[in-house]
Amino acid sequence: MIILVAHQKGGVGKSTVAVNVAVELSARGKDVIIVEADPTVHTSSNWAKDREEAGHSPIQTVQKTGNLRATLLDLDNKYDVVLVDAPGKDSSEMRTAMTAADMILVPIQPTQPDLDTTQGLVITINQAKDFNPDLKALAVLNRVPTNVFSDSVREARSYLSEFPELRVAQTRLHERKAYQNSLSEGLGVVEMKDGKARAEIQLLTEEVLTW
Ligand SMILES: Nc1ncnc2c1ncn2[C@@H]1O[C@H](COP(=O)(O)OP(=O)(O)O)[C@@H](O)[C@H]1O
Ligand SMILES: [Mg+2]
Repeated sequence: MIILVAHQKGGVGKSTVAVNVAVELSARGKDVIIVEADPTVHTSSNWAKDREEAGHSPIQTVQKTGNLRATLLDLDNKYDVVLVDAPGKDSSEMRTAMTAADMILVPIQPTQPDLDTTQGLVITINQAKDFNPDLKALAVLNRVPTNVFSDSVREARSYLSEFPELRVAQTRLHERKAYQNSLSEGLGVVEMKDGKARAEIQLLTEEVLTW
């Protein structure tokens, strides 16, 4: 299974989602590899290096840029799950990965400027579907405020309902320090002590595997 974590915008949480889902899949006994496709920002390979140096069970990570299609199809034969951490812009990496992926995971922060970028991404996804008609697209609301009075989720869901090509995951990832620490410590939140973050990643992984 090839899962592409992508968005044409940086800082939305692609690498955070990629490494955290990778750890949870690995904990479930899946043979996982992360393909870091970002030529300039090396979040996931740095994370994997920190992880190995700290003595935690390694998660395989390879760097590949340019046209990803052949590499992904090849890795798909060797691993249970290939997770692609895409660059934060519209790129040949993102577009070529879309032609090979089973699913694209799109982290979206529930703020208007982020939501406004959705239409462009959906157009790109629809173009990829000409080559890859079975591509599934799952939006994951990320950095959701933990403030119970916030309307942001309802507003984001209402906005995203205009794009039927993009399913919105039931599981939302909230703004939590654990996600920041996971990137800097080479860990997945499922290995850390914030039970709420752990539950979010476990539920999201379950949603991905059962779609
Ligand atoms: N749910 C979250 N809660 C708190 N911080 C988050 C969350 N998701 C992402 N971040 C932080 O936002 C920043 C950008 O995340 P990152 O995964 O590197 O984005 P991208 O890969 O899309 O550029 C990082 O500092 C990360 O720790
Ligand atoms: Mg990144």
